Amino acid sequence: MPKEIHTIGVLTSGGDAPGMNAAIRAVVRRAIVQGKKVKGIKKGYNGLLNEEIIDMDVTSVSDTIQRGGTILYTARCQEFLTPEGQKEGARICEKHGIDGLVVIGGDGSFKGAQKLAALGINTVGLPGTIDLDIACTDYTIGFDTAVNTAMEAIDKVRDTSTSHERCSIIEVMGRNAGYIALWCGIANGAEDILLPERYDYDEQKLIDSIIRNRKLGKKHHIIVNAEGIGHSASMARRIEAATGMETRATILGHMQRGGNPTCRDRVYASVMGAYAVDLLCEGASNRVVAYKDGRYTDFDIDDALAMQKDISEYVYGVSRSLAI
Ligand code: ADP
Ligand code: F6P
Repeated sequence: MPKEIHTIGVLTSGGDAPGMNAAIRAVVRRAIVQGKKVKGIKKGYNGLLNEEIIDMDVTSVSDTIQRGGTILYTARCQEFLTPEGQKEGARICEKHGIDGLVVIGGDGSFKGAQKLAALGINTVGLPGTIDLDIACTDYTIGFDTAVNTAMEAIDKVRDTSTSHERCSIIEVMGRNAGYIALWCGIANGAEDILLPERYDYDEQKLIDSIIRNRKLGKKHHIIVNAEGIGHSASMARRIEAATGMETRATILGHMQRGGNPTCRDRVYASVMGAYAVDLLCEGASNRVVAYKDGRYTDFDIDDALAMQKDISEYVYGVSRSLAI
């Protein structure tokens, strides 16, 4: 017999992402519709260990679907990396009657959910990260908003770059993953795209490409650089010295994590949030909700964490060929 769930907890963990509120709202409302109690845990696993736990009802999530950030706040929690911290987390869940838990975050947060599941708390993860770097899913909550925010910002930098006939290095988020850089590189028609997964640190190639394009009469040279490569300001100084082309660096930073979620982020977050509750109501545990090959689905967390994801060689090749 699958375990019957009475109270569903929900928390957001790791970096925030636009659409997390839409996901929380869906969890709360779907759970209430299914006759469950709902508790919100503030500040991720930190808030769990500090018992920052609140009752949630239909009105707790009113007027939130359109808002960026997370109404439950988020945090990273060192203590939860330890077996003692995880046992304490499970004990606190039991104390508050939380027998099912939805964890909205990235791979790190899912590892926490995996540990709680092993300790008897039924858990389901929802992919929430602007980085799109969760292998089991083609979609992560927040990516669409973040990449559109970055694209619009890069369009603006491009205007001034063209007016001054400059080279612009624009740094977008993504410490280990280059999805935002790749998408913006294509959408903004960048001359060069530097991805953690592909960049060979051969700056001479960049310099040659700038000089070649200059000779062809291009009025600007846009380089989209991922955070994982970084050092945009010093790169700009070196490029200016080597090419003679005035070069400026712009780091977009955390603006990419904020703002009202796009329609796509709201809708996927809503469906995924409801799906997570349905899984818990069926007695499932240690699962991650995903959108894969055109449909909503779910995976065992252990399998999901073992999967690998890489930038498509074909898409990367297309981005390079269109940048001539
Ligand atoms: P993300 O969820 O976006 O990948 P992090 O990697 O920072 O973000 O993880 C968020 C939190 O998840 C961590 O601060 C920690 O509390 C928890 N976590 C990460 N890895 C583990 C692990 N191996 N075991 C238990 N909890 C973990
Ligand atoms: O995971 C999302 C992300 O925005 C990454 O792109 C970035 O490297 C990291 O979080 C930044 O985290 P912090 O909020 O600690 O600056």
